[in-house]
Amino acid sequence: MELYIDTANIDEIREAHDMGVLDGVTTNPSLIAKEGVDYAKRLGEICEVVKGPVSAEVLALDFEGMMAEGRERAKIADNIVVKLPSTVAGVKACKAMSDEGIRTNLTLCFQPLQALMVAKAGAFLVSPFIGRLDDIAHDGMEVIHQIRTIYDTYGYQTKVLAASIRHTKHMVECALAGADVATVPFSVITKMMNHPLTDSGLEKFVADYNKAFG
Ligand code: E4P
Repeated sequence: MELYIDTANIDEIREAHDMGVLDGVTTNPSLIAKEGVDYAKRLGEICEVVKGPVSAEVLALDFEGMMAEGRERAKIADNIVVKLPSTVAGVKACKAMSDEGIRTNLTLCFQPLQALMVAKAGAFLVSPFIGRLDDIAHDGMEVIHQIRTIYDTYGYQTKVLAASIRHTKHMVECALAGADVATVPFSVITKMMNHPLTDSGLEKFVADYNKAFG
């Protein structure tokens, strides 16, 4: 399972990268707005740190606008993946970009038929948003299971990128559901190696050793 970090904060990206287990990065306009930086400039900085796929979202809602923005974003670095919305215009842009050799990540996916359509259009990644479905009393994880089954049944190569992950339990469930990738906030990445029994166990090992040998 691949692990991406879901942030535009360069310090968090560097820290996660230094752990040696980071495969890629996802950004979105809200995350960039939070940082208050120029989108293209920050993408360049991220691509210098992380060599795996870095998702860069377009702001346009129409096909021509998406194509123009996506082509510009793709020039920033070889590992840029253009993030497009899971809409009719987005699927059309996905197909056109796939034909041009530009990799895409179809975002804001909330139901399995969106995932089916974007796979047909050659998407490199599809991003079902688990947390936002859970927020409205739906079952986000069920969508991951449905997409996994559809992709495996028909042999689609699009990778299932579980997004909008809120906590470590989502991560466990994504791994069990066979998500290819999970994109995770920094706060969740740091918790993935936590267990109180690890901490108390270490304390006891050190205390026992010091008691015996000073
Ligand atoms: C994914 O690419 C999105 O940036 C992200 O996971 C959205 O998560 P949120 O619902 O926590 O904003």
